[in-house]
Amino acid sequence: MCFAEGSFGLQLTILDYMRQRVEADGPMALSEVMKCTLTHPCFGYYATRNPLGALGDFVTAPEISQMFGELIGLWAVVSWQQIGSPRRFNFIELGPGSGMMMNDALRASQLVPDFHVALDLHLVEASLALRKIQKNSLAGYAPTWHNDVYSLPCGPSIIIANEFFDAMPITQLVRGSLGWHERRLSFDQQTKMPIWTVMAETSHLASLLHPKVLTTGQVGEIAEVSSFSLSIADALARRLVSEGGVALVIDYGYCNSALGDTLQAVKKHKFVDVLENLGQSDLTAHVDFAALSAAVNKAGAIAYGPITQSAFLLSLGIIQRTYNLMKKSNYKQARSIEAAMVRLIDSKAMGSLFKVSAWSGREVNLLPGL
Ligand SMILES: C[S@@+](CC[C@H](N)C(=O)[O-])C[C@H]1O[C@@H](n2cnc3c(N)ncnc32)[C@H](O)[C@@H]1O
Repeated sequence: MCFAEGSFGLQLTILDYMRQRVEADGPMALSEVMKCTLTHPCFGYYATRNPLGALGDFVTAPEISQMFGELIGLWAVVSWQQIGSPRRFNFIELGPGSGMMMNDALRASQLVPDFHVALDLHLVEASLALRKIQKNSLAGYAPTWHNDVYSLPCGPSIIIANEFFDAMPITQLVRGSLGWHERRLSFDQQTKMPIWTVMAETSHLASLLHPKVLTTGQVGEIAEVSSFSLSIADALARRLVSEGGVALVIDYGYCNSALGDTLQAVKKHKFVDVLENLGQSDLTAHVDFAALSAAVNKAGAIAYGPITQSAFLLSLGIIQRTYNLMKKSNYKQARSIEAAMVRLIDSKAMGSLFKVSAWSGREVNLLPGL
C-alpha cells in the first residue's frame, strides 16, 4: 500500500514530495534523488511502469534479440561446469526488467538438463510492477524475489546483471579550489522548480575517488562515485569467496575511472533534461568498471575484464547463432535477425560502449568469453 498524501490529504506529486524533503532536511543528495525518482514505491519511475521496449522509453540488449539472453544462458552453463557443477546453486539475476534475458537464458540452458535440476532462481528487483511482469515471463521457474542483494540465500551462485549497475544511485562531486564539494538538489525560491546546488563544505566521499581523478581534477570539473554499487560489489564478492560462484556484469561505462558528468535521463528513446523529467524518465550514470573491480579485489575475489560487449558476444559465437537463426527464417525475418546482431556488436551501436566483466570467488580455469 502506498500513501502518497500530503498534510491535507491531497495527492502528492514527486516534486511536492521532494520539495517537502528539501524544506525539512536541506538540499537532497543525488543518490537520494536517484533512489526516490527510480524506486520510490509510489512515485518511482520503475515502480510505476514497464519502461522497456519499443513502446516504452528504452530498449536493452535482451529486448533487441533473443540471442543475447541465449548466449548468457550458455555462459552460465559453462561457468557452472567450471565451478564443479554444484548439485544445488542459486541462479541470480539483478534487475531483470521484463524477465526476457532470464527467459532466453533458461530456454538455451535446457541443453544441459542437470543445470536445470540444480538451479534455484532468485531475482533482485525493487519494482512491484516489474515483478508482476517477471512472474508471467518466468512462469514455471518459481523464482524468489529479493529487494536487494543482502537477503540472497547462502550457497554457490551464478549471478547475471545487465544494465543494473547504471541505475544504482551515485554522488557527484565538484572540484573547488580547496577540495571536492557535493552537488545536491534544491528548489529555486521563486519558481519552486528543482535546481542543482553545490554544497559549501567539502565532502568526505572524495576519499572514494580514484587517486588519478582526485589529483587531476581541475576547479569546476565533476567526478562521480557510487557507494551503492561499491557496497553491492563488495557483498557479492564476499559471497563468491565464501560460498563459491561467479558473476557476470554487463553495462555501459568506462574501463578506467575518469572525470566527467555522465548522469543522463532518457524518455521515449531520447535524452531529456534531468531536472525537467524527475520520476518520468530513466535516470542513469555510466558504470566505473575499475572502481567495481577494485571493490571486488579488496573483498578477496577475482575480477576478469572488462572487455567490450562486442568482443564478448563474438567469442561466445553470436555470428554462428545469427546464421543458424537466419537459415530457419524467411527473408524479412533474416534481415531483422542480422540487424539485431549488428546493433549488439557494432562499435557505433552497443558494441564498444557496453563492457563486460566477470567476478569469481576463486581462480577459474576458463570463464567463457573473458
Ligand atoms: C534498465 S532496467 C534493466 C532490465 C534488464 N536487466 C534488461 O537488460 O532488460 C533496470 C532494472 O533494475 C531494476 N532496479 C533498478 N534499481 C534497482 C534497485 N535499487 N534495486 C533492485 N532493482 C533495481 C529495475 O526495476 C529494472 O528491472
